[in-house]
Order: sequence, then structure tokens, then C-alpha cells
Amino acid sequence: MIKKFIFNKPFDTKAVVLDIKNYDGDMPYFSCGNNKFCYKMSKTACVYGLGEAVRGINKRGWIYEGYCSDDPSHTEEKRSLYGAHNFLIVDDKANGGDRFGVFFDYPARITFDIGYSKEDELMVSAQTNDIAVYIIEGETLIDIVKNFRRLIGQSYIAPKWAFGFMQSRWSYFTKDDVVRIADGYENADIPLDAIFLDIDYMERFKDFTINDERFPDFEQFVAYMKSRGIRLVPIIDAAVKVEDGYDVYEEGKANGYFCKDENGDDYVVGVWPGRAVFPDFLNEDASIWFADKYKMLTDMGIEGFWNDMNEPAIFYSDKGLDRAFKEIEKYKDISLDANTYFDCRDTFSTLSNSQDDYNSFYHNINGRKIKHNDVHNLYGYFMTKSAQEGFMRNNPEKRTLLFSRASYIGAHRYGGIWTGDNHSWWSHILLCLKQMPSLNMCGFLYSGCDLGGFNGNCTSDLLLRYLSLGIFTPLMRNHSACGTKDQECFAFENTKDFKNIVDLRYRLIPYIYSEYMKAVMNNDMYFRPLAFNYENDEMAKNVEDQLMVGSSIMIAPVYTQNAKGRYVYIPEDMTQIRLNADASITESEIKKGHHYIDVALNEIVFFVKSNCCVPLCNTAKNVDSIDYSTIKLLGNGSKYELYTDDGVTTNVSTDNIKTLYK
Ligand code: GLC
Repeated sequence: MIKKFIFNKPFDTKAVVLDIKNYDGDMPYFSCGNNKFCYKMSKTACVYGLGEAVRGINKRGWIYEGYCSDDPSHTEEKRSLYGAHNFLIVDDKANGGDRFGVFFDYPARITFDIGYSKEDELMVSAQTNDIAVYIIEGETLIDIVKNFRRLIGQSYIAPKWAFGFMQSRWSYFTKDDVVRIADGYENADIPLDAIFLDIDYMERFKDFTINDERFPDFEQFVAYMKSRGIRLVPIIDAAVKVEDGYDVYEEGKANGYFCKDENGDDYVVGVWPGRAVFPDFLNEDASIWFADKYKMLTDMGIEGFWNDMNEPAIFYSDKGLDRAFKEIEKYKDISLDANTYFDCRDTFSTLSNSQDDYNSFYHNINGRKIKHNDVHNLYGYFMTKSAQEGFMRNNPEKRTLLFSRASYIGAHRYGGIWTGDNHSWWSHILLCLKQMPSLNMCGFLYSGCDLGGFNGNCTSDLLLRYLSLGIFTPLMRNHSACGTKDQECFAFENTKDFKNIVDLRYRLIPYIYSEYMKAVMNNDMYFRPLAFNYENDEMAKNVEDQLMVGSSIMIAPVYTQNAKGRYVYIPEDMTQIRLNADASITESEIKKGHHYIDVALNEIVFFVKSNCCVPLCNTAKNVDSIDYSTIKLLGNGSKYELYTDDGVTTNVSTDNIKTLYK
């Protein structure tokens, strides 16, 4: 089922957990040579996978890169985003062709040309020959995913409260700001489980510090917010500020825990705190040391974190900045023409995330000096791994919320990811929808996008439509950038409409949590493209704006401005569930085929498969206060397999599944 091929000396990324022998024979499907792997695609083959990427669920027709990139503009011409998820599935079985999955375990830059240069060619090019390739076979598409997921290990389980709705902004600057947000939600009677603290809670952007003026008595404040049913989730950035007397910097420096330049000096870059250094998460001692720093916050009652800027993002380096200042001199007294004007302009803009920098610093891995760019894609992954291992070491029974921006396959065992700095654009609702199943194939189940969009100003209708998808994503967080218009649900006039939609999330928590946990335990997908459920339905294969959610639901969110509804493809007879504007629920049967479905901004429509049921309970102010005795079953089936547990301990088992009858 799984064939492993080792070329030369691959770096041990720890992405794979199954110990399998090298396959003794030729690699099927691909011809290989010169660090390249070539597969001839038939005209009808679909290609799935690549996790967090731009464009379609079917990735065919574009060129992508596995290279963790800090890029705040997620437009179609991009080749990579924050994660490097080098897993693909090729499917042409319905036409009598091939069907297989392939994972390229390779931590440096790798290119996937999927019919971009040549229509019928899938060409994968690595930088070197040190690569492990796994071919994964299976009867169905889901079998392939399950086999792959077995190979890479069980996905991360977030605490149950982290399935509630969460509010974030860059930044809530003070304690009073945070209280104002909690009050705003409470007054509008909209449920809320967490408020996020972005970089300004720290003292001058120094990890593991609290700004005492803006957040006095932090520990008490954390307890006070929790007594109101709301957890605080602080950000931790990858880079550590260079500052004499700052303990994290001093300790790391004294122990040699930061990444080094060629001469063995700490490599200094500029990020939020100004000049800063990178903890060497690939070095075991450094990673244990940094992970233990989170204890300062968990000891104060913090139960969740988001790790950021860990591609790692670099605004500039000391080295690059020096060069740029020298370079700019030469443009001073000349008339800037077509060539020189752009060069002059780019002198500073090309400083960020430059290849020159990624090639100029080193990790110390078991005494070996490894150039960063050769293992670039592991940095965010190892930051996440290090933090989660620290939580488990310090509190083995308890689940801690953790999600990251950068990732590589393997990181899915330690945390979730959010999809980074999207925009308040209609097209980004659809982008998020397409990313979710692709991420699930690669093991990332706890995921979601910044609802409402991070960059740019969000409007009430856009946020309502974003939320209509967001109520189904395991990570449901509204987040936006500094300088943008207020984006909290209560910042808009029609708070009742927001309440109606967010309430539905809470009414669906028994289903969402149960389906999430079953997906984790069975190495299954929580979000599936229709093509994965209806393999022989040619129509379903082309549907890229609807998804299956768990075992029973299909969603078809509206993602077009001013639309009053949308066309939906119903792949089999289903029950249509409508959440009306007055919070009542209407059920009706709907036949297989194409339908135009009206969906007002304050309504949600979703579909339940025939002979299936979906549990729906009463809403609650947060996840902890959901009353499971209020559950009713929707749909025309007769029962539902419900998973429940305490939501906080690591005590997870299929014994926690019980059958509910209608
Ligand atoms: C990055 C993150 C964003 C965060 C900002 C400030 O852009 O992606 O979510 O708000 O940094 O910390």
C-alpha cells in the first residue's frame, strides 16, 4: 500500500511516523533523474493536495512551490503560502487510469509543475537529490488519504472550548479594550469563547513578557476573563529581541541557542521588536529551553497560543540593511530612468524574506552545521513541535490550544494552522473553502481562515458570508489587521443577524466536535471535496464551491457580493436545512440535481445526506455551557453516532461514542 524510496541522504524531517522498509524495485508512475520526478498525466486526470495553496481543489494547470513564505497577498499568481505540504493525489480512475498518492519528504524548496509548462506533465523538481518519496495506494481516494495519514501520524486535538467562536484583532492594546470586546459580545448576546492578544500585550514585542502598564495584574485578569467564560490567547513570535538584560535573549545567547552566521555569531534580523535573533528550534536543547518559557504564561492561567512569523519572516537583516544603505547612495544624484528607478525603489523592498538571508544563517543539529535554506520548511513546524512537546512535558493530561502560521507535514500532530493574512475580499471566502479539504488531506484538521479577512476593511454583508463558512471550520476566529475598520460582530448595526449565525455554530457544536474527533481517530477528512464522496459522479468532480462536512452534512456557502442565493449541485437526494432569520429551523427534502437556493444574509442553508441525522442543541454563551440534553436530531435518518468527552484531558477513545436515536 505504501512504497518508500530513499534517494541519497534525506534529512530526517520527522514527518513520517511509520517505520517502513525501502521498496526494492523501480518507482511506479514516475520517471526520475537530476532531482526531478516526472509523471505523464492523461487529459482527464485530476490532481489534489498541496494543503495550503492558492487556486483550485483540483491543482492541475498551475505551478506551486513547497516553500514556507510570509506573503500577505494571497493572489492567484503566487506559488507558495506559509505552509509546505508536499502531498499530492493523482486520480484518473473513473477513466480507467491511475490513482495514487505521493509524498515528497523534502525540507528545502521544491516545485510542483502540474501541467503548467506542459499540459500533460506533472514535474516535481527538488534542489538536491536528498529526498524520501512515498507512493501511497488505495482503492478509493479516501483510502489513499487514510493510508497517508497513518504514515504521518494522528492529527492534533484541540481543547473543546477552542471549537467556539473567537475574536481577535491586531491589537486589543489594553485590558480595557479586551473588556470592551467581551462586553460588546455579551450585550449583543452573541456567544464567545476566546479573545486573542496580538503583539501589543508584550513589552516592546518581547516574547514571554507582559506590558504591565497596559495589562496590570495579568494573572488576575486572565482569571477574571475566564470567570466570564472567555479565555485569552496570546501570540508568540519566532524571533527574540536583542536587548541586554532581557532574560530570554541573555539565556539564549549564553547557551548558543540562536541561529548563527557563517562565523558562528548570532544572526541578527529585524522583525517586530527591531533587531532580533532566531531560536534554533531544530536544535533539541534550544527547543526544550524555548518551550519551557511558555510556562510563564500557562502558570498565569493561559490555555492557548498562536505561534507567528515562523517561516521565519525577516523584514531585514543587519547584513542586508548595511548593503542597502551603501547601495542607495549610488542613486542619489542621478536622473532615475526606467531601469534605475525600479532598482532604486527595490533596494529596500527586496530586503524582506530574501534568499540571501535564508542562505546566510545556520542551525546546529547534533553538532552539525546545517544551512537554514536546506531545511527552511521545518522551522515553523519545529517551533510548533517544540511548544506542544513542552506543554505535554509540563502538563501531560491537559490539551493546550496551539496553532501556527508556518507549517510542514508533521506539524499536524502538534497543532493547527490558520491560513495567514488573507483579505476582506469575497474571493477569499472561496479560497478558504478550497484550502480546507486540501489541508485535511495533509493531516491539518484544526484550521480556518481569518473570518472577515485580515487585510482591508470588512463590511457587514461580507462578514456574514464569511461566517456562514466559518461556522463549519474547526478554528472559527474573526481577526483583522491594525488600521482596518472594526470587525467584531457587534461593530455592525444588525447584531441580531450575527447572533443568529454564530448561535448556529454553538447549536452545531455536538456535531462539529464529534465529527472532528472521529476524523482524528479514523485518519479521516473532516472536510471532503464532493469528488471524494461521489467518485463516479462526473458532475461532483467539477464542484469546487461546495464541501462535505463530516459524515452527514454538505455545505454550499454564498461567496458573491449582493447575491441573494446561489446554484447548488445536490449529488443525491438530501434534506435541506434552513436556519431562518428568526432562528427557527425548516427541513425539506430536495432531489438530486441542480437547484437555485435563496439564502438571505441572515440565513444559513445546509444539506443532510439521506438516511443520516445531525444533532442540534440549544445555543449557549460558550462551549463549556452547552447543554447536551437539549439535542434534537435533524434529517431523515434514525440515529447519530455522537462522540463526547470532557474536552480538556488527553483521554480520547472510540469508547466515547454513543448512539443517539431519533
Ligand atoms: C502577522 C500575522 C497576523 C498578526 C500580525 C501582527 O501579520 O499573520 O495575524 O496580526 O502579524 O502580529
